[in-house]
Formats: sequence, C-alpha cells, structure tokens
Amino acid sequence: MDTSNIILVGPPGAGKGTQAIMLREKLDALYISTGDLFRSHLSNETDLGKEAQKYMSAGELVPDALTINMLSQELEKKADDHGFILDGFPRNVVQADALSELLDRKDLSIDLVLFFNVPNDELVRRLSTRYTCKVCQAPQNINESEGNATPKCNLCEGELYQRSDDAPESIKRRLDVYDEETKPILNYYEEQNLLTEINSVGSVEEVFTRVEGALQ
Ligand code: AP5
Ligand code: MG
Repeated sequence: MDTSNIILVGPPGAGKGTQAIMLREKLDALYISTGDLFRSHLSNETDLGKEAQKYMSAGELVPDALTINMLSQELEKKADDHGFILDGFPRNVVQADALSELLDRKDLSIDLVLFFNVPNDELVRRLSTRYTCKVCQAPQNINESEGNATPKCNLCEGELYQRSDDAPESIKRRLDVYDEETKPILNYYEEQNLLTEINSVGSVEEVFTRVEGALQ
C-alpha cells in the first residue's frame, strides 16, 4: 500500500468515522478526528472543550485558530513510518491552506482525499438514529444496539449516548454549514488531482470495498 496520508471529507453523517475505523485497521495509520478530539476535551472538562462546545452544539464550526492549533499538536504524534487519516479536518479553505503549510514544514504531503457522497435525506436518517460510544467514540446505528436494555458499544462495550449536535435543529445547521464552508474544499483538492468521490450509499461493507478500490 503506497497511499498513506489520507483526508476524509463529507457531510455530517456520511460515514467518515465508520469508514475511518476500518481504514485505520487496514493501514495501521494515525487516526485524527477533530470532532472526537473536541468531544474528548469536553468530557475532560478542559477550557478548550468548554469553548468548542458552544459552537458544536449549535452546529457551527469551532474557530479556525483553536482547531488548527489542536490539529497541529496531534500531528506531532505521527511516527515516521506510519501515515495519517484525517477525519473532519480541513473543513474550510483556511484550514486546507494551514494544513498544506503544516505538512510542507514536515516534508509530508497528502496522497488522497476521499469524498463520501450521500444525499441529504439519508444523512438526516443516519444522524437521527446514531448512537456514539462514550469510551471509544465509535458511531453506530441505534438498530445495532436494539434489544439491549442499556445499549452498549459493539466494539468496546462502552456506554452509548446521542450527541447533542444530532438534535434536528443542529443537524439542519450542520448541513448548511457544510454547504457554505466545507464544499469549497472539494474543488480545492480536485484542482490538485487528489480528490476521489466515493458513492457512500449502500452497506458499510459495500462502501468500504469502494474505499479499498480507491486506494489501489
Ligand atoms: P464531527 O464529529 O467531525 O462531525 P461531522 O462532520 O458532522 O460528521 P459526523 O461525525 O456527524 O458523521 P460521520 O461522517 O463521521 O458519520 P458516521 O460514521 O458517524 O464534527 C462535529 C463538530 O465538531 C462540528 O460540527 C464542529 O462544530 C466541530 N468540528 C470538528 N472538526 C472541525 C473543524 N475541522 N473545524 C471546525 N470545527 C470542527 O455515521 C453516521 C451514522 O450513519 C452512524 O450511526 C453510522 O452507524 C451510520 N452509517 C455509517 N455508514 C453507513 C452506511 N453505509 N449505511 C447506513 N448507515 C451508515
Ligand atoms: Mg464522525
């Protein structure tokens, strides 16, 4: 596998986190999800977590300076012989430029940008039935945990909860923010010949087979 530094882009609920867990296993890469990092800060009650939560629950982007700084610290953890998978970063052109500068300084580059494409009605359906693990942050559909009195994570048995930004008003705002702020990075990476679109309708396994095809 010669592709190792990968960015996952797509609207909320497209399956970035779901596919990232499988991809991380396959590539043994450093997985960085800025959303998961903010949620860890929040559960640890750090100042950054409290600040980020104001934006996240409303479905807005956390300010660039905070996000870029956090991402930059996380990238420092990358070992030389492993790649990285970025989920949810960059999310606008300012962040894409900042990432490019950060990687230049480290003599690194992006190999592939995967764009997970799903129609809005399916996104809303997925987000409204999503549960997230309090421990490992893995997303799962409520149907997978049906039958349990207390739903448990199917990966680590951690307790599941519904993200505050999966409330209907937040979902709507997140979709609008994606259209306004994040969509422009599709052209940005298309122009650099890095973008591959993945039709992300179908089962999780079907989508992963398409991802594997894009890595070839
Ligand atoms: P973040 O946590 O990144 O959320 P998001 O981008 O809105 O995406 P989601 O995590 O909601 O969806 P996903 O694509 O990971 O889908 P999933 O795999 O869970 O960001 C949250 C917030 O943090 C932002 O709104 C912002 O405030 C802040 N933030 C984060 N990064 C930032 C940045 N760079 N700059 C500024 N602010 C930032 O799947 C969804 C559901 O669908 C699950 O239930 C899953 O089981 C199910 N599912 C997955 N695949 C399939 C399939 N093929 N078929 C059926 N169901 C499926
Ligand atoms: Mg996610």
